[in-house]
Amino acid sequence: MCGIVGISAQRDVVQNLISGLKALEYRGYDSAGIAVLTGHGVERLRAKGKVRDLEALQAVSPLSGTCGIAHTRWATHGAPSTDNAHPHVSGAVSVVHNGIIENHAALRAELQALGYEFTSQTDTEVVAHLIEHAQRQGKPLRQAVQETVARLHGAYSLAVLSAREPGTLVGARLGSPLVVGLGEGEQYLASDIHALLPLTRRFLYLDDGDVVELTREAVQVFDAAGQPAQRAVKESHFAADAVERGEYRHYMLKEIHEQPQAVADTLEGRIAGGHVLTQMLGVDAEALLARTDSVQIVACGTSYHAGLVAGYWIESFAGVPCKVEIASEYRYRNPVVRAGTLFLGISQSGETADTLAALKMAKGRDYVARMAVCNVPESSIVRESELVLMTRAGPEIGVASTKAFTTQLVALALFALELARAKGLDAARYADGVRQLEQLPGLIAQTLKLDGQIRALAENFAAKQHALFLGRGTHWPVAMEGALKLKEISYIHAEAYAAGELKHGPLALVDKDMPVIAVAPNDHLIDKLKSNLEEVRARGGELYAFVDETVAHGLDADHVLTLPACGEFAAPVVFTLPLQLLAYHVAVLRGTDVDQPRNLAKSVTVE
Ligand code: AGP
Repeated sequence: MCGIVGISAQRDVVQNLISGLKALEYRGYDSAGIAVLTGHGVERLRAKGKVRDLEALQAVSPLSGTCGIAHTRWATHGAPSTDNAHPHVSGAVSVVHNGIIENHAALRAELQALGYEFTSQTDTEVVAHLIEHAQRQGKPLRQAVQETVARLHGAYSLAVLSAREPGTLVGARLGSPLVVGLGEGEQYLASDIHALLPLTRRFLYLDDGDVVELTREAVQVFDAAGQPAQRAVKESHFAADAVERGEYRHYMLKEIHEQPQAVADTLEGRIAGGHVLTQMLGVDAEALLARTDSVQIVACGTSYHAGLVAGYWIESFAGVPCKVEIASEYRYRNPVVRAGTLFLGISQSGETADTLAALKMAKGRDYVARMAVCNVPESSIVRESELVLMTRAGPEIGVASTKAFTTQLVALALFALELARAKGLDAARYADGVRQLEQLPGLIAQTLKLDGQIRALAENFAAKQHALFLGRGTHWPVAMEGALKLKEISYIHAEAYAAGELKHGPLALVDKDMPVIAVAPNDHLIDKLKSNLEEVRARGGELYAFVDETVAHGLDADHVLTLPACGEFAAPVVFTLPLQLLAYHVAVLRGTDVDQPRNLAKSVTVE
């Protein structure tokens, strides 16, 4: 994922810009660049690859200056290359950009007609030319940026520098985050506060539509109407390093609590004006989705569970048939590929041997395209796929997948909505789905506050040998994920069933020693599920019902945990959280190695 850093100061800013980029490396990127104002105007260094490659350039031909911008780029428009790396320059102006400019092609044609030459394939370069063009008409930098962003469709956060106004930085955001860091005699911009934590703990979070002007002495924010605006100063208590455990006892617990931010990051720049941006999947996505009339999902473990949830969404929202299969099975059979089928591989690591092999096997077949939903940008699965939708969970260190799963669900929900839109889903249902996704970070934060109650429930499980998880519809795979979490870190034998299957066999296991966990949101299957749970109660099973507040009183259970009410896209994410916390606390009580459970590896690169 792209990252932005900008600094206006009295001292040389180059080293701090590079350190800021390093703090953003965990988000994934394929090139990096920096531009500063020197005595010769705007000068820049750009490198394909890592920030260390940029540092190597800086060591050979050092830049220095007191005002600069820097960027890590994850390619969307145009391949990873030095020419496509940011900052982009036009005349006196230099720009870094996160997001997608949807109308870049029309703007490019217009600018070319005015004589501007393009040196990259990016959507960003039009922004540099538009600002330069406005400045050539005599507009000050802030006004030039305001006039430019008024012409952009899509999502952006921008940091802009102009040799015509030394010492000034202008930022702007819509649908993609940008924060202002407040220093003493120097001020900062960044797409993520982690880039600035060594420099300041005081931040202004910009609203959508804001434009901000910074000099080393002052910060002025203007709202979407161009009027001066006040934004509250917030103090951050975040740990500076994303791969440190910080105050948490285990990485798994840290990663569980990172989910509000990880989900917000996965949504970042992909929804604007109440719709999903098709170009999040790349420039060819629209045509490929139009040709897609069925989907084949392949994955392993937790990623397979995310695929199962997506299968329900894709069939129910897009009306497109969807098969979901474990990669180790798919790769060793001879699947019939219907014309018009999109292959979709899901993987946190992007290196899982079976999923990668299935993806490679799919290459020679008659698929519309091979798409990856993945958390590691430079992984084999990403490189092998024609379409890529990155989850932005950040590094996941704990072997038990948590934030990777929920961000997969969010990415797959975006994909299902986009496919549904391409197939003519009615506007109200589409808008409701988008709204649910936008509300998710807040709902997750609210749900994680139930931690104390879940820890208390965990006491009852610590001495058990078995547990049964039940759900229906999309919450059957959520129940499977809950069972997987419990078994892999606490070593308690756990099974998940579609609740309707109970009476076809597993009910024989139910007695007073069998805890049964029911995932019970108030969806269209709740009455069916209640009947299934009566069957458990009648056999003396100890029932734990995870319900939403709208069913809290209509369900007879030994233990009821009440979660926030939410719609069909949000509920599988929200209902996963107590299952993760339950597994975590049970494992801690049993004294197992939570982050490195026996016999397991984070990335399964062998068969
Ligand atoms: C779940 O907690 C595990 N880490 C495991 O099931 C994992 O999801 C599976 O190995 C697939 O990994 P991937 O997502 O990296 O492909």
